[in-house]
Amino acid sequence: MTGNADEGSRPRSLPEPVTAVTDTAGAWLPARMAEVEKGLLAAVEGDGELAEDAVLTLNAGGKRMRPMLVLLCAGPEAGDAAVRAGIAVELVHMASLVHDDVLDRAPLRRGLPTVYASAGRERATALGDRLFATAFRILVDGGDADAVTEVSATAVDLARGELRQRQAAFDLGLDEADYFARCGLKTGRLFEAACVLGRASTGREPGPIGLFGHRIGLAFQLLDDVLDISGPPERTGKARGTDLLDGTVTLPLIVAGRRDPSLREIDLRALDESSAEAVCDRIEATGALDEVRSRAIALIDEAKAGLTGAGIEPGQRELLELIADGVVLRYS
Ligand code: FPP
Ligand code: MG
Repeated sequence: MTGNADEGSRPRSLPEPVTAVTDTAGAWLPARMAEVEKGLLAAVEGDGELAEDAVLTLNAGGKRMRPMLVLLCAGPEAGDAAVRAGIAVELVHMASLVHDDVLDRAPLRRGLPTVYASAGRERATALGDRLFATAFRILVDGGDADAVTEVSATAVDLARGELRQRQAAFDLGLDEADYFARCGLKTGRLFEAACVLGRASTGREPGPIGLFGHRIGLAFQLLDDVLDISGPPERTGKARGTDLLDGTVTLPLIVAGRRDPSLREIDLRALDESSAEAVCDRIEATGALDEVRSRAIALIDEAKAGLTGAGIEPGQRELLELIADGVVLRYS
């Protein structure tokens, strides 16, 4: 959990490899992360009746991996444009989660009741809209026209990914290619944008940095889908089996279905919380979670290897490799 702006440079629940990034980077990174945190708070508080929900959502936590990626891809000369991009990317991420919780009817996120659960569908929808709009206002106020273009293309892809997920709900025939295409849109794309925006903020060509972001975003989603099955909620901050309950077929279920074909016969629509937990146990018993974890690690390895020859200086590369490790060595 991120407490508040005062401790913004070191959110409490950051996984060890990510704290290793802040420790390794030197003073510039915590200083810039603190600016992001301050900017996020300034962006959400103040005006209008949704301010309180917005501040609660912000303070509910988050690993701030995306703004950190923006800053790392900008490097030590990260300036105000990188900070604005970091704020905008995190706001789009927050907006998409608030909306996602409405669509999922999710009870818990980051160990706390979701805005949907505590304040209802209307308020949560309006809050997501507000956070989303604020992201663009920050970029426009900074005169970052190219960043507006990148973030708006990214938001379109997020919506496409989410739509694909809804359209494929309850379909146990979903294959890996469909799954990866959807994850690329709903998760890989925002990680990619974070990297591209960071590098572009210092006037450099993005080169392969976008692909690096995309790959670690995919790995992030694979891990997220493992954690949905494995829990436990005390560590992940989310209810176990939420994906199954809303009909979202993920890689752990696809892999488990190959190992235990009886899992392909389940009626996902008939699940309730306790039978969903039982299905989670069955998926886990096939060993599918280990396979998906290994595939996430393989994606991280590919992402790191793709940085070779990209003109990234060694110190910066070391930090990017550390944050990439943080994506798969996490429990929330
Ligand atoms: C969380 O993943 C959700 C997303 C990565 C994308 C959600 C996108 C939208 C709701 C549409 C676009 C919205 C905006 C504001 C552009 P998950 O559902 O796999 O993970 P979870 O377990 O945390 O719910
Ligand atoms: Mg979801």
